[in-house]
Amino acid sequence: MKVIILAGGGGTRLFPLSRAGFPKQFLKLDGGMSLLALTVKRFLAVARPADIVVVTNKDYVHHVKAELAAAGASDAHVVLEPAARNTAPAIALAARYCLDELGAQPGEVLFVTPSDHIVRPVEVFGRSVRQAAELAAAGRIVTFGVKPDKPETGYGYIQAGAKLGAGFAVDSFKEKPDKATAEKYLAAGNYYWNSGMFAFTVGCLMDELKACQPDIYQLASRPFGEVLADFALMPDISIDYAVAEKSKKVAVIPFTGYWNDIGSWDAIYEVLDKDADGNAVKGDCLALDCSSSLLLGHSRLIAGIGLEDVLVVETDDVILVAKKGESQKVKDLVAELKARG
Ligand code: GDD
Ligand code: MG
Repeated sequence: MKVIILAGGGGTRLFPLSRAGFPKQFLKLDGGMSLLALTVKRFLAVARPADIVVVTNKDYVHHVKAELAAAGASDAHVVLEPAARNTAPAIALAARYCLDELGAQPGEVLFVTPSDHIVRPVEVFGRSVRQAAELAAAGRIVTFGVKPDKPETGYGYIQAGAKLGAGFAVDSFKEKPDKATAEKYLAAGNYYWNSGMFAFTVGCLMDELKACQPDIYQLASRPFGEVLADFALMPDISIDYAVAEKSKKVAVIPFTGYWNDIGSWDAIYEVLDKDADGNAVKGDCLALDCSSSLLLGHSRLIAGIGLEDVLVVETDDVILVAKKGESQKVKDLVAELKARG
């Protein structure tokens, strides 16, 4: 099995800490390891560093190498995209690398994972990876499903069908539905959120690209060096739209551990340790009569009085102050800032 870690996204939902030049996968939320380094470590229980391939944008090469060293996996491979084309081309490029540079056979399983999530505990995760690898080896595009508890529109939704191995065959996959559809799926009870992790054999991925996204298949059917040279010709599309929505071979393994894609400051508040008053505090902060708040200091003292359900994130040039529960709107704020120029 080869592990493909996707580390080329440039999200802005954690503004002002994460920006285009320093996206979420490189954040050290606990002051300790970055999300990327934690992701690498999680896989060291099931794979050797030499079987790990990190695929990222060329602009992030230094961050990625530093995080691999921090995770004790300097021997992992790094594939650099010359342009950002989303996850389907990134995965196709990494698969080509495995075939041509690492000697992978078409029957070898690729386990694809985002680099910016929190997933635990490692034992439950390892068991699910093995179950997924088994289904993948039998010719399936395997997804990892998480039980939904709200009609989140930022995720893919997986409709589970008949029992299959340790999981289910998938009747349909819908990427990022609108609110009304997400509510319908939640009420139906047989839908999972897509966690963003996938397992398939190299051969199955190529077959499904050929059937579902022939433009990527054509470009990716040549030697690795040529795929890299022509990478800018790839369409900009995620694996969810390109393959998961269209393939008839999708299966799902329900993941029963903790999964959080920490896509907002609210989600970060949720994962951080809290004091007796429910405050998550990092950096130099003084909080009088504050409760259920996030105070994240960087270079200055954050002094708060009587705050309740407030999120404060301080960086060198920006102080974000938001009401808890509203942090999804950070993306609107970033859009306004961009419009300002
Ligand atoms: N190498 C590379 N190149 N990596 C990329 C690129 C790229 O062009 N674009 C994104 N990534 C990485 C991101 O860094 C992240 O680790 C992962 O691929 C997923 O990309 P996101 O952009 O974060 O996807 P998403 O959150 O909108 O949606 C995906 O994840 C959801 C769960 O969090 C989908 O798979 C959804 O179906 C899923 O529910
Ligand atoms: Mg994401």
